[in-house]
Amino acid sequence: MQTSELVRDNARFVNRSVYRDQEIFELEQRAIFSRSWIYVAHESELRKPGDFRTTTIAGQPVVAVRDKEERVRVFFNTCTHRGAVVARTPRGNCRAFQCMYHAWTYDLSGKLIGVPRPEGYGPDFNRGDYGLREVKSVATFCGLIFASLDPHAEALETFLGRTREYIREACEGRVITGVNKTIFNGNWKIYRENFADGYHPNYLHKLLAAIGTYAEGSSIDLGAGHGLLEWAEIAPKTDKYRAATDKTADANIWIARLPKDKERVLTLFPNLSIPWILDAVSIHVITPLSPERTLLEIYLLGGERDTPEIKQWRLAQSMMWGPAGAVGVDDIEVPKECQRGLRATELTWVNLARGNAALDRGDLEDEQAVRAFYKEWIQRLDAVGG
Ligand code: FES
Ligand SMILES: [Fe+2]
Repeated sequence: MQTSELVRDNARFVNRSVYRDQEIFELEQRAIFSRSWIYVAHESELRKPGDFRTTTIAGQPVVAVRDKEERVRVFFNTCTHRGAVVARTPRGNCRAFQCMYHAWTYDLSGKLIGVPRPEGYGPDFNRGDYGLREVKSVATFCGLIFASLDPHAEALETFLGRTREYIREACEGRVITGVNKTIFNGNWKIYRENFADGYHPNYLHKLLAAIGTYAEGSSIDLGAGHGLLEWAEIAPKTDKYRAATDKTADANIWIARLPKDKERVLTLFPNLSIPWILDAVSIHVITPLSPERTLLEIYLLGGERDTPEIKQWRLAQSMMWGPAGAVGVDDIEVPKECQRGLRATELTWVNLARGNAALDRGDLEDEQAVRAFYKEWIQRLDAVGG
């Protein structure tokens, strides 16, 4: 495969095959997901020793756990005996990981501490050889825990680069308050692109168009594949909407109550999106399952000290996202419908050419934040010699 044919003109054009090709999917797993920092859990999910959360990195099962010394460790979630996962639920708490199959048991530091009837393995059997395999690169920023399968990964803060100030603003002092999961039939990059795309909201989201939330702002390439959309806070503007909400003021969720300077959608390379719109912040984790299937997990964030009233606002506003979300319903339909259309092989390119590709900042409807992703994407693929 010639990767040079996949992205051209400063990422203004991307080859349609990148959304459907099995070979490219596998290359992405090796070149990107096996080498980048990948979000695995939030600190608020791992408060006490034994709290764990399971996920995958590059298709491999992992479990993040807080050990007895209160340190977060990440292990490959597989028994060293015959391979069953040792943590079977999305999250939980345990004193040790006991495999369901033959009850091999591992402590929270991964050490194998129990093997039923070990004499059957003969005198040479050494438990020390059979601890859980650990992912060595693990680091945390503002409560977000990342891991990398690359033992020589660059420092997490270097990788996050210019996104750090925005992550701080959106995530500092926050906790996970809920999660919404769905699987859609579309390539993962389409959902990822969508959150760096400030062009679509007024056309795709009929609800936003109807209540008049048109915004002016910027699309920004933050470097290293990260992007940002930002705009001044908006409130619904149409008379029709005002008249309706005046009657049911309590139900008016489209008004932000908490002060902040801008509304933002931050997109991190490769597979995270963190929108902060109104008072609701969420982390969208986009996990490719196959070229045409993607797992989407949306973690809602709240403040550690939110009053019940603030909590209520955030929850109500979070109903924006997900497969039944007022806005999210469209954003999940998009990858599905794009995927169907992209099966037409007679056409070669998708167009990401809005705005001046030589600048790293454009208008909100320009595509700097989308091109940011593909510039890094192609560089990573080229680095492994696709
Ligand atoms: S597979 Fe885990 S104990 Fe046998
Ligand atoms: Fe959208």
